[in-house]
Amino acid sequence: MSTENQQADLQQEHQKYIEALGDFARSHSCGALNAAHLGEEVRLCGWVQFRRDHGGLIFVDLRDRDGLTQVVFIPEVAPRAHESAHILRSEYVIALDGYVRARPEGMANPNMPTGEIEVVVRSWKLLNTSKTPPFMIEDRVDPGENLRLEHRYLDLRRPKMAANLTLRHRVAQSVRRYLDELGFVEVETPMLTRSTPEGARDFLVPSRVNQGEFYALPQSPQLFKQLLMVGGLDRYFQIARCFRDEDLRADRQPEFTQVDIEMSFVDEEAVMGMAEGMVARVLKEVRGCEIPCPFPRMSYAEAMADYGLDKPDTRFDLKLKDVTAIVRGSGFRLFSAAPLVKAMRVPGGEGITRKEIDEFTEFVKIYGAQGLAWVKARKTEDGLVEWQSPIAKFLSEEERAGLSEALGLECGDLIFFQAGEPGMVNAALGNLRVKLGEHLGLVDKEALNFLWVTDFPLFEYDEEEKRYAACHHPFTSPKEADPKKLAADPAAALARAYDMVLNGTELGGGSIRNHAAHVQRGMFKALGFSEEEAESQFGFLLQALEMGAPPHGGIAFGLDRFAMLLAGAESIRDVIAFPKTQKATCLLTGAPAAVNNRQLRELNLRLREKEKDKTEESAKKS
Ligand code: AMO
Repeated sequence: MSTENQQADLQQEHQKYIEALGDFARSHSCGALNAAHLGEEVRLCGWVQFRRDHGGLIFVDLRDRDGLTQVVFIPEVAPRAHESAHILRSEYVIALDGYVRARPEGMANPNMPTGEIEVVVRSWKLLNTSKTPPFMIEDRVDPGENLRLEHRYLDLRRPKMAANLTLRHRVAQSVRRYLDELGFVEVETPMLTRSTPEGARDFLVPSRVNQGEFYALPQSPQLFKQLLMVGGLDRYFQIARCFRDEDLRADRQPEFTQVDIEMSFVDEEAVMGMAEGMVARVLKEVRGCEIPCPFPRMSYAEAMADYGLDKPDTRFDLKLKDVTAIVRGSGFRLFSAAPLVKAMRVPGGEGITRKEIDEFTEFVKIYGAQGLAWVKARKTEDGLVEWQSPIAKFLSEEERAGLSEALGLECGDLIFFQAGEPGMVNAALGNLRVKLGEHLGLVDKEALNFLWVTDFPLFEYDEEEKRYAACHHPFTSPKEADPKKLAADPAAALARAYDMVLNGTELGGGSIRNHAAHVQRGMFKALGFSEEEAESQFGFLLQALEMGAPPHGGIAFGLDRFAMLLAGAESIRDVIAFPKTQKATCLLTGAPAAVNNRQLRELNLRLREKEKDKTEESAKKS
């Protein structure tokens, strides 16, 4: 019989077999069987990983999300089952009945949980066939991310992806249990809403019923959770989807998930203590490890001074040092004229090559640096320390001595310098520090360094817009609640905000909010809103605050980021079932896509010429 006929025959039997299988009652998953099950009759369902024909026997590795089991078709045990098994191909879906036996002497695979046993097939049925997949479903095969995303349903069959999604689920369940036990109530908030100012661009949704008007997808449920506190909910949480139209990175998605929390009658300590307890609980339940609480704390000022970033990776020790005062009077204009000069000593860094330094120089340009000054400290034959560097000749003896002392320079060290505006200097050296940590193997991959960063500034000055913007968001309470003092010196104001950082990634952030309407009005004023603007955009919040709003505060965690760090994944996309690419597209569904003219007319929208051509072209195609 030809293979096609055999396949057709088998598929005809399919329906009958479903009935025979009842509810597909599998006795075990493909990862469950071991020596404890020897001799048991079992029923397995799964996907064919490989078929190997070997010495008259046919072997198949059968896969489901739990693992792989070797099954063997033996002509003497089940001649029909053995004969028809020749048609099996990768990714065919089958069900089988058989019994568990020990693998023959010397054939056990200690690297597999099921490696001691195999299942001898008595009968099997084809549940579905598969075209040849575009890539092998195996962790060690890397078909490239685009192909993986295009066929995500196949990628999800890979053991690593199944493990990542399962881990994410366990994190979410652990969070839910913890918060439920503490009396938090899970409440859903709207997806179609008004824009909330969280600092990114909104995704807008045009309204058909109210033409010319738009909903915004929430950047976070910030205002709703505050209104729930005014509504007396007391303790709220939500595993909430958030949408932000911002530049994407390895740890950012346009659509992501927060564990969003708000509490009434609390101060910073209460929120931070609850958050530490939550993270400790997750680590215990998901990783089986105890993490010491309370977490260390660091002020924003200290983080910026020593690490150049507000989310320091404290797993390794390189630190930045402000050396502006030492080079203030230098003949080297690049240093003497700069508002800030910082240095980072890399102990034993003289082995870093010129080529690597060139790469680091290109890297810091991403952060606006023009270049990267460096010095290597080498021992001369007469035992003196020699400065080997393109900039050495510009620095006086005295300046070199001052720098050596301030940095604790030793022979064999390398120093990187950056001079310029503080924002650029910190970003360039801070991010270079992180890169060097990886490059030099300084990072302890097993460590989980939790840290609170506190005492954030309330505002940051937006150079482009020439005005102050909220550092966190405008609903964060200032440490100084007097609106007059706030208006007098906004740059000096600190916020009652806190960020939780894990291994250099911002895991969560929150604050105590303005529950008094006059303080919230003061904030809007300091942010440059006129009274009318504040009323028209946030009137509903101000009104609510005037009707017995309790003191409240909260925090939100990035669930995707948390799962990414716990899974040891390189990218947030690896813990999201259907993520977007760096260009915010979905390669599986082809979103975003053009819509047809009828849809646009209903919304009373018209595209400008260029976009219109695209729409017509794609409408013709469909
Ligand atoms: P914030 O903007 O700091 O605070 O966000 C909280 C946490 O959400 C995660 N996160 C993201 N994860 C993936 N992709 C993104 N684009 C992305 N943006 C943020 C981070 C971050 O720490 N409403 C406030 C919280 C509050 O004040 O309670 C808020 O959204 O892990």
